[in-house]
Amino acid sequence: MTSIKGSVAIVTGGSRGIGKALVEALYQRGAAKVYATARDPRTVTHPDAIPLALEVTDPGSVAAAADQAPDATILINNAGVLLNASFLDSSIDDVRREFEVNFYGPLLTTRAFVPLLERNGGGHILNIHSVLSWFTAPGVEAYSASKSALWSQTNALRLALRPRGINLTGLHVGYVDTDMASGVDAAKTSPHSVAEQALDGIESDAPEVLADDLSRQVKAGLSADLTALYPQLTAPR
Ligand SMILES: NC(=O)c1ccc[n+]([C@@H]2O[C@H](COP(=O)([O-])OP(=O)(O)OC[C@H]3O[C@@H](n4cnc5c(N)ncnc54)[C@H](OP(=O)(O)O)[C@@H]3O)[C@@H](O)[C@H]2O)c1
Repeated sequence: MTSIKGSVAIVTGGSRGIGKALVEALYQRGAAKVYATARDPRTVTHPDAIPLALEVTDPGSVAAAADQAPDATILINNAGVLLNASFLDSSIDDVRREFEVNFYGPLLTTRAFVPLLERNGGGHILNIHSVLSWFTAPGVEAYSASKSALWSQTNALRLALRPRGINLTGLHVGYVDTDMASGVDAAKTSPHSVAEQALDGIESDAPEVLADDLSRQVKAGLSADLTALYPQLTAPR
């Protein structure tokens, strides 16, 4: 079991949104130290957090962050981007960017931190996916694909890291009340609630956290006919 109390955590994208709530919740549960990353570390405002510069798509930046957090025992891959890239109409650069940040970013940080976590006696990694790992819609096509790929990455790494004493939790959630979803007029979960459920998942070594009803509903619907998730398939063209 991974205890938050006394742990040393690093949260990517820890200056705002869900990442900021995670940093606060980690300290509230007694973490000894929390590294909070941002592309501009001056934006990290938590008084106890240790700000680190990190651009997750840059291997040099990832290596430098790992060098500065050698005592980490928990890695939270939270940083992500939503560019609303569409497969047919957006620039291919935007499609690639969503994969660079949302899929390759966590892969780079995990590869950099696994040796540290092992040296520090095992540990825990939490990857923030989305309900959109399991469902797509116009406007979020490339984002959704990148989060599906991240979900698969998590499933593979969970098996690969188990013998090394490192547990991996994947978290799925629908809309959360942060900058990312600021343009959406729909029910949103609070970042605080997501952070608390994420830490409960780490402390109970849960392989998966479904942080809202929408994620639970969509996951349950995956075994149904495809038209249950995509009713527009039954409408006339
Ligand atoms: N909000 C939602 O509705 C929702 C729903 C499901 C899943 N999620 C996921 O939850 C995670 C957190 O999102 P959020 O809602 O808190 O979004 P947010 O408020 O937009 O924050 C995004 C965070 O990611 C960091 N980031 C973005 N691109 C980066 C890069 N290239 N290198 C390093 N850091 C980068 C940002 O850091 P800077 O401060 O340096 O820009 C920021 O801290 C993301 O993985 C997102 O996909 C969000």
